[in-house]
Amino acid sequence: MRDRPYVLLSVSMSLDGYLDSASDERLLLSNDADFDRVDEVRSGCDAILVGATTVRNDNPALMVRSPRRRRLRRAAGLPATPLKVTLTAGGDLDPCARFFTRGDREKIVYCPTSTVATAGARLDNVATVVDGGPRVRLGEVSEDLYDRGVRRLMVEGGGTVHTQFLTEGLADELQLVVAPFFVGDSRARRFVGDGRFPWCADHRAKLVETRPIGDVVLLRYALSDRFEESRPAMEAR
Ligand SMILES: NC(=O)c1ccc[n+]([C@@H]2O[C@H](COP(=O)([O-])OP(=O)(O)OC[C@H]3O[C@@H](n4cnc5c(N)ncnc54)[C@H](OP(=O)(O)O)[C@@H]3O)[C@@H](O)[C@H]2O)c1
Repeated sequence: MRDRPYVLLSVSMSLDGYLDSASDERLLLSNDADFDRVDEVRSGCDAILVGATTVRNDNPALMVRSPRRRRLRRAAGLPATPLKVTLTAGGDLDPCARFFTRGDREKIVYCPTSTVATAGARLDNVATVVDGGPRVRLGEVSEDLYDRGVRRLMVEGGGTVHTQFLTEGLADELQLVVAPFFVGDSRARRFVGDGRFPWCADHRAKLVETRPIGDVVLLRYALSDRFEESRPAMEAR
């Protein structure tokens, strides 16, 4: 097996396990203090990965926001903000989305062989389109990212992507934030879909931290023996 990066899943969900509402409007499941914590986590990573639906629905920039953290990264000899990565089967991605237009780092798009030509034409000049074979597998994506120098990968959703990392046993850490309200609409996207998860009643995940952050709570789970107790500090890199 080839090497793969340390994979950290970052999620905010409602009390009933939803990642979003069912409406077109983006639902904020966090608060300012937690957004700042997420920014710190981002600044300690080499790449951030999201699924194509998140790029389409949320139009995230996925950058390190804090000027201080960007400076610290530069001082450590790193680019100001991590690489951005997405996955698509259909190739329906808008080159004007913030994912592509914000930041001068390379953006990588993995897609199946059948979509490479379409995606390549659509995203010409804004992204590197990588042929993921007949079916894009997250294990192979992780290994390819490792070969590109990614040692720490932050996965920011959505549910389809989290489900694959979890069921395929590719996640080392889960940072789960619970917001103090319900969505109550099964048309909305849940944190994960159906699947066989390595953590079940007979094999419980290891809870390593609980931290109230204003009105939300962060739950941190170690999902593999590669779990890194503490991290960040750019100085440590
Ligand atoms: N609360 C949070 O922390 C959080 C974070 C992120 C997102 N969200 C929410 O989550 C929702 C989106 O979640 P989602 O589960 O619907 O979508 P998603 O995971 O963001 O993206 C799914 C899409 O990614 C592509 N994809 C995923 N796995 C692939 C693979 N193995 N091979 C090729 N393509 C692959 C496909 O794109 P194509 O359709 O282009 O083929 C697929 O439809 C949004 O409503 C967003 O607001 C919430």
